[in-house]
Amino acid sequence: MHNFKTDASGYIMSRLNHSEPTGAPESVRRAVQRDYERFAASGLPTPLEQYLLDEYDLDVTAEYAGVTLKNPWGKASGQLSMTARQVEEDVAAGLGFVVLKTVIAQDEHGGQSMAAWAIPEARMVAEPIVGQSGEPGWTITWKGRGWWQSLEAYLQLIRDARKLGDGTGTLIVPSSKYHLPSPSEPDWRYGEYEFTTRHLLEAWQPSGTPMPLEKDFSPTLAGSDRSAVQTKILEWLRVVPKLMRESAQASGIGELRVGMKMFNALFDDDFQIEMLKAIHNSGADRPDFFVYANRLFDPQREFDGQRGVAFGGPDLSDRNLRVLDRWLALRAGASTLPWSATGNITTGRMAVEYLLRGATSFQLHTFFQLPADQYAMKIGNRTQRALHELHFHPQTGFIVWLHHLAQEQGLTGRPIRLLEVANNPKTR
Ligand SMILES: Cc1cc2nc3c(=O)[nH]c(=O)nc-3n(C[C@H](O)[C@H](O)[C@H](O)COP(=O)(O)O)c2cc1C
Repeated sequence: MHNFKTDASGYIMSRLNHSEPTGAPESVRRAVQRDYERFAASGLPTPLEQYLLDEYDLDVTAEYAGVTLKNPWGKASGQLSMTARQVEEDVAAGLGFVVLKTVIAQDEHGGQSMAAWAIPEARMVAEPIVGQSGEPGWTITWKGRGWWQSLEAYLQLIRDARKLGDGTGTLIVPSSKYHLPSPSEPDWRYGEYEFTTRHLLEAWQPSGTPMPLEKDFSPTLAGSDRSAVQTKILEWLRVVPKLMRESAQASGIGELRVGMKMFNALFDDDFQIEMLKAIHNSGADRPDFFVYANRLFDPQREFDGQRGVAFGGPDLSDRNLRVLDRWLALRAGASTLPWSATGNITTGRMAVEYLLRGATSFQLHTFFQLPADQYAMKIGNRTQRALHELHFHPQTGFIVWLHHLAQEQGLTGRPIRLLEVANNPKTR
């Protein structure tokens, strides 16, 4: 269990001042214990949101990209949202949203500047990992990168997923990786932005609602010098939202809600703050929302003959929470773009940590991919089992920690509303 001691630099990250949810009323803790056991055997009640409201006074209405969600739980982009079958299971499990695997953009001639990312996955393993703080957790190690099938197959996935989500309250979100110039490359390949955005919007229609779209970054700028790389990354963050929006306008098909999926660059926390400033200070060209923040990268670690792998686990959430604290303190009440949290959310408690920093939704990958013995529920699909654990775990679950938080912050009104907590992020 995460006790939130300190990270390697001795910084205390938890805003939740106890390692046990002692602030949750005894009656709530007893009910959660009961529900954890009985739902492990019977499956979760449906709709879960109504049950949480009736039984626990929790209103879990959430928000993503300006869209109201029935709950804050989403599948993050990756290997678990590549097929209609996977989306079907997530819709059945009642997720608030599903971000599809990232497609690699192309221009009208099929040119893909990010083609290196369009390679099939060779091997993927969920492995235990220990953070620098000594905290144990999980990481997925794999070889492979983005969508490697055709753009047409991706468009079909959007259409299928939209049909499956229709009327269920599960929002479907495409994700794309467009051209990003290297420091020695002066020009942007607009063709990739225009062609791919137009086709994604076509697949999204008919709808009338703007299409949320996450822009994935996973830069590899090896060989360039540090300051040139930093300058370039900040340029990307300022320019990409504008190019995406202009491409949507030029298509005349529909509107986008532009989301930047922020990444952990190979630099220090100061640079993460510079990145957050870059997306907030670009005036009318700001994105509509952002996701914070994708995995860490270890250039030395080897996997399956490949040097340099991305990883997650406790170091990822430690770093994200630490940077978010600095960011909130810096903003000191000035508005922050709406954002969705990602990074080592493996307990309800960790979700509450991100919520306290203003996240209005949570997107998970690793926790939906653990070995079956890590979930107490033995029936249903993996997403349902994960949701059971995330909500009802008696020590680390979302219900007890939201109640603990309400007590700590003197929130006496009922129901406890998730969005109210998120919209009042406290600086330390
Ligand atoms: C196997 C794997 C594949 C992923 N593929 C993508 C991707 O295509 N696009 C993307 O934006 N993020 C991708 N991610 C990052 C996840 O969406 C997520 O943001 C990250 O893993 C942090 O969340 P987690 O700690 O819950 O795994 C991938 C992660 C994993 C483990």
